[in-house]
Amino acid sequence: MSKIVSISSDKIFIKKENIIPFLKNKNKSLPTKYLYDEIGSKLFEEICATKEYYLTRTEKEILDKNASDIIKTSKAQELFELGSGSSKKTKPLIFEALNENDLLTYFSFDISTKALKMSYNELKKISKKLNIKLLKGDFNNDLNKLSYSKKNRLFLFLGSTIGNFNNNLAEKFLKNISSIMKENDSFLLGVDKIKDKKIIHSAYNDKEGITMKFNKNILNVVNKEYSLNFNEDNFLHNAQYNSKKSQIEMYLESTTNQSITLPNNENVKITVGEKILTEISRKFSDNTLNILFNKASLSLVKSYTDNKKYFSLYLLKSKKYF
Ligand code: SAH
Ligand code: TRP
Repeated sequence: MSKIVSISSDKIFIKKENIIPFLKNKNKSLPTKYLYDEIGSKLFEEICATKEYYLTRTEKEILDKNASDIIKTSKAQELFELGSGSSKKTKPLIFEALNENDLLTYFSFDISTKALKMSYNELKKISKKLNIKLLKGDFNNDLNKLSYSKKNRLFLFLGSTIGNFNNNLAEKFLKNISSIMKENDSFLLGVDKIKDKKIIHSAYNDKEGITMKFNKNILNVVNKEYSLNFNEDNFLHNAQYNSKKSQIEMYLESTTNQSITLPNNENVKITVGEKILTEISRKFSDNTLNILFNKASLSLVKSYTDNKKYFSLYLLKSKKYF
């Protein structure tokens, strides 16, 4: 097993009080990164394989078709994937980059140890020429700690994970990426596009209930992390598309009047029907993306999409050098 290197700033200890504002706020929420523990990462893989979740298979189709062009256009000598998950979809890019380079380093960066392990297992047999590096960290806090490379790097941010950030966080994240990019580096961003509301809604409400399990699992994770007393049986999975904001809003809805004890021993009441926000998933138009790219000083080199225009990949450069 390749060694996992942690560059996470909250590695030493998580302050128990950190969770308090999320649950004391009038609009309750939980930090989305807690969706991805060992169980959550496994459930996410299962979501990707459901009939309803069109995102993964559509992005895979675009990657399979355009991997060669992406690698040739970016002249990538090193791949750096943020929030890599299992890295399954990335394989065609790795194969193409191995064709173009004698040796290749692939960095898998993720907050979940399980994801890093899955990534390693997925890639370890590909080639002796492939060097796999596993980095554990938070892409919203730890990007400034990434080591410098002389090679032409291609940063990858797939799966429409950018859609899980609100607009401010998305802008901050893209600015960060742009600032760490050197002249010959590139950035490939995978984005889910606005489409028929019913198609979007069913992607987050699969019939088998895997997304429901994934959503509820966050309660077990925060219970462990902050010694809380959530009972997942007292909540319903509620994921609705907000057309005005072009986003899925995923909640846990309380089925009863209940009380949760915070780490400072204060009790917060949760009333029947009250909702805790666990995740948003934004859907984008080209216009919104152009505004974001401009603000983050990113220039579009090329974009790739599928026949139905459900999903797009954007190949970008930092404007500093464009
Ligand atoms: N790129 C993969 C996985 C997407 S799911 C795909 O397209 O299928 C989002 C991934 O980001 C998960 O693997 C999750 O563990 C990771 N992640 C979530 N929050 C993170 C954070 N704050 N920092 C780093 N990784 C994070
Ligand atoms: N980035 C993906 C998306 O927005 C993954 C994801 C995040 C997800 N939260 C989710 C998938 C909840 C299903 C359910 O779709």
